[in-house]
Amino acid sequence: MKTEILSLSDADLRKAAELIKSGALVAIPTETVYGLGANGLDPGAVARIYDAKGRPQDNPLILHLGGADELELYCREIPTAAMELAAAFWPGPLTMVLKRHCIVPDITTAGLDSVAVRCPAGNAARTIIRYAGVPIAAPSANISGRPSPTKARHVLEDLSGKIEAVVDGGDCTVGVESTIIDMTSSLPRLLRLGGLPLESIEAVVGHVELPEESEPERPLAPGMKYRHYAPNARLILIEGGADRAAEFINSRSDKGTAVLCPVEEEGFYAPKRVVYGALKDPQTMARGLFAALRELDELGVNEAYARCPGSGGILDAVRNRLIKAAAYVIDVEAEE
Ligand code: TXA
Ligand code: MG
Repeated sequence: MKTEILSLSDADLRKAAELIKSGALVAIPTETVYGLGANGLDPGAVARIYDAKGRPQDNPLILHLGGADELELYCREIPTAAMELAAAFWPGPLTMVLKRHCIVPDITTAGLDSVAVRCPAGNAARTIIRYAGVPIAAPSANISGRPSPTKARHVLEDLSGKIEAVVDGGDCTVGVESTIIDMTSSLPRLLRLGGLPLESIEAVVGHVELPEESEPERPLAPGMKYRHYAPNARLILIEGGADRAAEFINSRSDKGTAVLCPVEEEGFYAPKRVVYGALKDPQTMARGLFAALRELDELGVNEAYARCPGSGGILDAVRNRLIKAAAYVIDVEAEE
């Protein structure tokens, strides 16, 4: 199959919607990352998503809706707090897990009694959902385990020939996936850090329960148990101050090494640098991270280093993705 590249023209967005309605797979740009979209109510189309991505069947998908007014069609027992979050942050990078309505097929939710829903921001995604008239099931449009795609080119690298089309909407503006909150129990619970900072969510619904770090073997979102975002190069994450980190990395540098760093730290390192945004604007670090992980592979290095960024706001998600991509973490302050 030849994967067609569609533009943002109205005719092409209509075509994308028609393809999805007819059971095809179309990668669509969202504000977070590109999603691999199919009609979320069509079990045959959804089955093709798992095949194309090489995704384990026990990892449920997010249903992308046109707005909060569609929640009752696909979810039940929706708590007031969920309506408040939707009013505050949709369209935007927030996914909520709610009790599932029986109209949603088992394959979309991997048999769970809950369903993840989100209303993406960004004109292309919203227009396609509206034209299609069906909720769109869409995981990130990468081969499972690879960094999520933030450009149409990344989608083609992974899925060319396996899907009917990709809508080229340019670079994703957020760059990391949505934040996922479980709203099925009495207290909202964080399942995945992402594009919407936890602080913003807590400002609306109060305390959000955090996952228990001590139980990594029991992941809360089924998808979080798999190794993610990994470049082919072995990524080693460094905890510690910039000077110590640079000293450590430079002492281990050779031709097969690269460093992933923000632009302000480019001058600190001896090995090849791959820049992923600026410390002074953390949003740019989120926006550039996945493209930078893919760039490491294009450089053909076999080992890469990155210093853990700070925390708070969007940096929590950046840090989380780096940790998930890394082979291991070294604390250079602890090494004497
Ligand atoms: O920003 C995003 O969320 C992107 C764009 C395309 O919308 N999508 C995305 O989908 O990141 P995916 O499939 O790569 O990640 C969805 C995560 C997985 O970890 C999955 O296990 C979890 O959501 N998930 C889906 N349904 C769930 C459910 N009912 N309960 C718990 N976790 C769920
Ligand atoms: Mg994904």
